[in-house]
Amino acid sequence: MQRFLLPDDISRAFKPNAYVKGESHVWNDTSVTRMLGIQYPIIQAPMAGGPSTPELVAAVSNEGGLGFLGAGYMSADSIRSGIRRIRELTDKPFGVNLFIPDENIQLDREIINSMKRQLKSLGSFAEEFAGEIDSIQVEHTPGADFAKQLEVIIEERVPIFSFTFGCPTRETIEELKARGTCVIGTATTVAEAMTLERAGVDAIVAQGYEAGGHRGTFLGFGASSLIGTIALVPQIVDTVHLPVIASGGIMDGRGIAACLALGASAVQMGTAFLASLESGAHPEHKHAILHSRDAETVITTAFSGKPARGIRNDFMTIMEAYEAPIPPYPVQNTLTRPLRNWAARQSNPAFMSLWAGQAFALSREASASDLVRRFVQEAQQVLSPFHDEQPKT
Ligand SMILES: Cc1cc2nc3c(=O)[nH]c(=O)nc-3n(C[C@H](O)[C@H](O)[C@H](O)COP(=O)(O)O)c2cc1C
Repeated sequence: MQRFLLPDDISRAFKPNAYVKGESHVWNDTSVTRMLGIQYPIIQAPMAGGPSTPELVAAVSNEGGLGFLGAGYMSADSIRSGIRRIRELTDKPFGVNLFIPDENIQLDREIINSMKRQLKSLGSFAEEFAGEIDSIQVEHTPGADFAKQLEVIIEERVPIFSFTFGCPTRETIEELKARGTCVIGTATTVAEAMTLERAGVDAIVAQGYEAGGHRGTFLGFGASSLIGTIALVPQIVDTVHLPVIASGGIMDGRGIAACLALGASAVQMGTAFLASLESGAHPEHKHAILHSRDAETVITTAFSGKPARGIRNDFMTIMEAYEAPIPPYPVQNTLTRPLRNWAARQSNPAFMSLWAGQAFALSREASASDLVRRFVQEAQQVLSPFHDEQPKT
């Protein structure tokens, strides 16, 4: 028989952590806020490639959320100076995120040369940079950079470390935890979440199909790894015995409240912070996020060799007609770097990677601290009928 929700059921649905664990009834008091020592269950997603500046990270942390440095593309030295800069700007907890390298990348010279020919055929860009593309020496030394990056995370005793694209060894995770670092992995399927739990992580980011930027998928990419946030989060919550952080398409307090109702203990928001004043995203990228309201986002491997979601532009469309295989990550990322750098210098969004989630049209231009304050107010407003108490301070 169909059973309608009584007010009490709704109330419980909006307090899943409290309900399941018999704990606090305050919406912002969750297993993640307690574990990370933060005031609100709002995490600014790490965004490698420039957007997540130390200023953005510190602003979010100072406001009671958790700021995250996306350090996947950074050298060990720049990670260290980034961490030190964050520490100058805040004494609150913050995170650093890295990419787990794939040890099994195959370098196929024919595929690489074919891609070089393709990139050199791209109009005015090609005339300027054909030589640069020709001279790219693609070498793959998996793990070499990662080991150095990780050393800095360990030496600097970073409070929170998260990773994507794979799963480090159990020993690595144990070593980080032994030094007091909280370790968070990224899953796009229930199977990946189970793998992360077995490896010993403290919490899991459940990254839905809507998410902007690269997919964290590491157990085989395909239709079965493209699961929407509303479908993915409760399945992971029901399967693992760890706090779950919802990610993908969350842009405001409504999204935060919805994800808490699904059983998440926090949210991780990327696109919502991309156009903030402190974000280091290229001005054309910010402009596209704020003003291309009717544009579509698509998942493409054309820029980096790994599936990632961004606003459709000429490069994506041209590459859809390319018939040969696209080299895998990070090879394709290396090959397209001259093109992306050229596009950035020219302020030409047609050839930039305009990473963005499906809900990008809901983004607002404001300082990061302003955004966090608004998210808190909005979530509070949505959840207030179900809570007697004010947010925990
Ligand atoms: C520009 C951009 C860069 C990103 N870089 C990273 C990264 O370096 N590491 C990571 O784990 N996730 C990265 N992500 C994915 C986010 O962690 C998160 O899953 C995503 O932003 C959530 O979807 P939303 O953008 O709709 O909020 C990135 C996302 C964007 C938009």
